[in-house]
Amino acid sequence: MDAKVNKQQLNWAELGFQYHRTDYRFCARHVSGSWNQGELIESEIIQAHEGAPALHYAQQCFEGLKAQTAVDGRVLLFRPDLNSERMNMAASRLLMPEVPRALFMLAVEETVRANYSWIPPYGSGASLYIRPMLIGVGENLGLRPAQQFEFRVFVSPVGPYYKTDGMAVISLAVSELDRAAPNGTGSYKVGANYAGGLLATRKAQEKGADEALFLDSAEGRYIDEAGSANIVIAMKDGAFITPNSNAILPSITRKSLMVIAREQLHLKTEERDIDLRAEISEFEEAAACGTAAVLAPVGRILVDQQWHSIYEDGQTVGPIMQELYDRLVGIQIGELSDAFGWCHEIKI
Ligand code: PLP
Ligand code: COI
Repeated sequence: MDAKVNKQQLNWAELGFQYHRTDYRFCARHVSGSWNQGELIESEIIQAHEGAPALHYAQQCFEGLKAQTAVDGRVLLFRPDLNSERMNMAASRLLMPEVPRALFMLAVEETVRANYSWIPPYGSGASLYIRPMLIGVGENLGLRPAQQFEFRVFVSPVGPYYKTDGMAVISLAVSELDRAAPNGTGSYKVGANYAGGLLATRKAQEKGADEALFLDSAEGRYIDEAGSANIVIAMKDGAFITPNSNAILPSITRKSLMVIAREQLHLKTEERDIDLRAEISEFEEAAACGTAAVLAPVGRILVDQQWHSIYEDGQTVGPIMQELYDRLVGIQIGELSDAFGWCHEIKI
């Protein structure tokens, strides 16, 4: 099959957010202080030493971005420079070597190109999720940084993260478990944060919610973020707000939504502490946002054993979140003009 012409025979519209093996992945190794040039490989299996620091001490970080087919057939990434930057922040925090931006971009582009047949077509609602990862490998036992590292990029076609169609309304349950400490690793995309959050998600789901909502771990009062997404809120007074916290992942989606809200919807935007219990009655609309989540309206929040509805019963999404979703996705799939210069085309 000519990988550049034919698409896989998948039911794209039915895809969920699951791993789907594709043909190629990119792998580079950092040995003796420098990166090799890396290459595309076929095996999805990583061979790692049993003493690898990634396995014992979570010396690893990752990223998440998507390639989408635009209305005119181009293949677009959304602000990949920010993923590269964020991966290097995490690398430095965990004493791993930075991945040069050129290597990061080469790996992402090569992997997407090599798996062209797996990029969901325009209009399918699906996209090609890209997962760059950096792990400490090689032999080790004591608590110290690895001597060797692997940078790998794999891709998987995915559908919506939460439910199937368009903008599903989700619910959140406040977690009694903390995700991250104020000066810890919460603002870095490192696997350890997510391992600690698995039980919180499980507990939230047992209470009937889709996701855990974490409050700040110092006071248990201010909104931090959800398990896999940041939070944005449209207030009844017209302000569009998002938490100001150094314990949350600096979401690229959120950063972009704040710009769209300010520049195009002309809302007064603010990053500030949001006292959940004191302010929830002033929420007009709320949403979780992220690469996987896109923009998912939050319909209900479980706080101190009590459900609070944000949207009226039966309402699916409010006008502000709908407008933001349409503008964000419109830019990402080339239906709207890329007014902020956010799209990066991969020449196939
Ligand atoms: N918060 C967490 C914990 C996440 O895992 C993600 C996903 O990447 C986000 C927020 C959203 O970040 P982004 O919009 O950069 O994908
Ligand atoms: C993403 O949105 O890219 C993420 O990494 C979230 C992850 C939990 C799927």
